[in-house]
Amino acid sequence: MSIRVKEFGKTADGRTVSIYRITNANGAYVDVLDYGCTLHSICVPDKDGNLVDVCLGYDTVAEYEANDGYLGAFIGRHANRIGKGKFTLNGIEYTLAVNNGPNHLHGGKKGYDSVVWATSVASDRLLFSYTSPDGEEGYPGNLSLSVIYSFDDDNALTLCYDAICDSDTVVNFTNHCYFNLNGAGSGTATDLLLQVHADAFTENDADCLPTGNIIPVEGTPFDFRTPKTIGRDIEADDQNLKNGSGYDHNFVLRGEGMRDVCVLSSEKTGIVCTTATTQPGIQIYTANFLTERKGKGGATYHSRDAICLETQHFPDAVHHDNFPSAILKKDEEYHQETRYTFTVTK
Ligand code: GLA
Repeated sequence: MSIRVKEFGKTADGRTVSIYRITNANGAYVDVLDYGCTLHSICVPDKDGNLVDVCLGYDTVAEYEANDGYLGAFIGRHANRIGKGKFTLNGIEYTLAVNNGPNHLHGGKKGYDSVVWATSVASDRLLFSYTSPDGEEGYPGNLSLSVIYSFDDDNALTLCYDAICDSDTVVNFTNHCYFNLNGAGSGTATDLLLQVHADAFTENDADCLPTGNIIPVEGTPFDFRTPKTIGRDIEADDQNLKNGSGYDHNFVLRGEGMRDVCVLSSEKTGIVCTTATTQPGIQIYTANFLTERKGKGGATYHSRDAICLETQHFPDAVHHDNFPSAILKKDEEYHQETRYTFTVTK
């Protein structure tokens, strides 16, 4: 594995953004920005051995700053929604930035996706660090974070998140990569095959906020226990799908500890992406709100041209005692890991 760095551009307020290329022994590579620890490109071999970029992104910092959608970004302090942007911890009510209808989404108006992270390069990994100050976007406690990316010779991209806080707080980190295994910018991702090792999902209201109900997938369009195309049931007459304009739901993953949780594959390129994680949930988001826009290399992206596999704690866990807790206690060490491994079928 080798890592080289180049300047990518500057933010509107003059911060320099760098792009790091991690190349493995086979010539496959991942490009990462220090702006939001953003996965910018993931170039892996298809069934004929040609490199295909399977990750959506933009050519300029200005586009990352101007557009919504969090393409490729690391998300925190709390991924997905917190109802009404309020929660109570140790008897104190905290008020967060509200940036998605009535709710708080993906860390608020200035989440970790727009931070330019301090970066250090080791021979086998890229390390990003940031201290999120007490009160940032309304969250309690000074939170020290490290995000580590590595890409090995088996085309496995590993994302490790560690954090510690000087008071009790809530945390939920994810990565918001938009995958299209047919190739980024090649059109719809609805023909990709998806399997998710989940027997249930969390029901959403019309604002995509969990109601607290955990629904078995059996007999619903959310049953991905055996592989099916993303598009097969996406237009089914189902209130949960209507609420998300497609899939935008947290699946309750089987098991615990680092385990395989979902498999995405393309019949066109033969590329298979297996996701493993330590996290309890995954937001399967079919890019329903990816409005038409210009992407990398002159491509045009549209709604449903990608899928996000956002490993996470359940959204709004702070309001639902039946969800795994997203509270991080003072001085407790937070650690989560997610690995996307790219292979091919012949
Ligand atoms: C998450 C949310 C979606 C949407 C996207 C970003 O996946 O669940 O509703 O906000 O992020 O566009």
